[in-house]
Amino acid sequence: MRRAPYNPWMHDATLRSDLRAVSGHLSSLAADLLVLPTWDGDDLADIPELDVATAGALADARARSEWRGKAFATCLVAVADASWPARRVLLIGTGSAPESTAQIRRVAAAAMLEATSRRVASVAFCLREVNQTVEAAQAAAEGLTLGEFDGGSYKSDAEPHTVGNVLVARAGAASDSEQGAALEQAVARGRLLGACSNAAREMANEPGNTLTPTVFADRARQLAEGTTLTVDVLEQPQMEELGLGLLLGVARGSAEPPRLIVLKHEPDGAADAPVLGLVGKGITFDSGGISLKPPDSMELMKDDMAGGAAVMAAMRAISLLGVPIRVIGVVPATENLPGGRAIKPGDILRSADGQTVEVINTDAEGRLVLGDALWYAKRCGATHLVDVATLTGGCVVALGKITSGLFGAPNGWVEAVQRAAGIAGDRVWPLPVFEEYADQIRSDIADLKNTGGRAASPITAAMFLKAFVGETPWAHLDVAGTAWSEEARPDQPKGPSGVAVRTLVELACAHVRWAGIGA
Ligand code: BES
Ligand code: MN
Ligand code: ZN
Repeated sequence: MRRAPYNPWMHDATLRSDLRAVSGHLSSLAADLLVLPTWDGDDLADIPELDVATAGALADARARSEWRGKAFATCLVAVADASWPARRVLLIGTGSAPESTAQIRRVAAAAMLEATSRRVASVAFCLREVNQTVEAAQAAAEGLTLGEFDGGSYKSDAEPHTVGNVLVARAGAASDSEQGAALEQAVARGRLLGACSNAAREMANEPGNTLTPTVFADRARQLAEGTTLTVDVLEQPQMEELGLGLLLGVARGSAEPPRLIVLKHEPDGAADAPVLGLVGKGITFDSGGISLKPPDSMELMKDDMAGGAAVMAAMRAISLLGVPIRVIGVVPATENLPGGRAIKPGDILRSADGQTVEVINTDAEGRLVLGDALWYAKRCGATHLVDVATLTGGCVVALGKITSGLFGAPNGWVEAVQRAAGIAGDRVWPLPVFEEYADQIRSDIADLKNTGGRAASPITAAMFLKAFVGETPWAHLDVAGTAWSEEARPDQPKGPSGVAVRTLVELACAHVRWAGIGA
């Protein structure tokens, strides 16, 4: 039996909790648990009523150094004043920077996880005096929503606990209609970004037997419900007509037919340029193919479509936010399996743009499907490209599980992506794509080979993609290490992270900054 899936792509009513923005004194906030960010050296001087309401428990906790500002350190105290709706206060540390939006996002997620495991019915996340910016309110709503994600969708036990009502509160502030409206808007935006991140996580969590390329395409259609997105799903005959030989090559070993999923955001009155092209790797299961992977952790290769999921979820948010430029999402979806008809090392494939590729290792399938997908995005008119892919194990070696690799050209475009990621709270870091690296993927028999050896493998993978983008500004995010967390962290349970969704949305929103690049 499968639990009702987390279903944020449908309509807001299907979100787990009700989340609202309010302003007011702590004594009036209608929630069982008040969450307050705290930090090094914080004395809660902006909310003196708290110590009274807890009958000195706070001062006591401070004296026993149970209350600290250290990142994610928590301290729970009871509210003694029966006239307050709240029963408890959870202090949670942001570390040294009280005003960091990234840290507000993370502590809000951690607080939601904590509230859920304590089976609390309602929560108010209180923005302190220094946190009362729209950015912090949005980050809090994002984090609280991210904290709702439950990866146990196939557990057959009783319904998991859900925190039903959630508030983002301007603590101590009198309600002022102008500021209140700005707060509400920021919270709604954060809610949407959190929900779309969770939609991507839900898809990445789904196993290969339930999320086939065909089902993945159905998910794209569901994500488009209630938006103005159009969805086109190309099937095998159309791929053959277009000559998408790299995507078709990877799909040969699988009994499941491949799909090329295309989502378009074409708002009324948008200019012809720029057109943002988002391309996401959609391998619904990567066994390695004939170059079979070892069995250790192979089950995690169900998330080899996390980049594609990020693109699809970002497209939903971009449409609902009414971003005033054209955006195209392209997701090449297939399994990578061995079989009697599968591609073999030594085989030669021809890409849609006419380049020939010698397949050295069938496990280097991501760059193959992306080569054709990047070509297709350009054919649809994309003037600026970003791809997101769980592309190389080497990227995990280089940057670990914290930071995604960032590649591309020209620098201005790469910097635009880096800046968007910084605002979104996705950690990325640039690696070079110097032309000399292309020597490693030169084939003796064809134009390119699909692997470049062990040295700089994330870079040679990026060089392969670069061969398909020409002069178009292009950036590539290698999320092999960041799409999935193998260990629980305070702000994120084990499992899919939803990486890159918010970065892509932020980038689309920042179009004015980059529209001139490459023009
Ligand atoms: N999907 C994998 C990359 C990957 C590895 C993602 C670990 C997440 C965690 C990709 O298709 C792959 O197999 N890459 C190979 C390429 C190699 C054969 C050139 C790799 O990086 O090992
Ligand atoms: Mn592979
Ligand atoms: Zn792969």
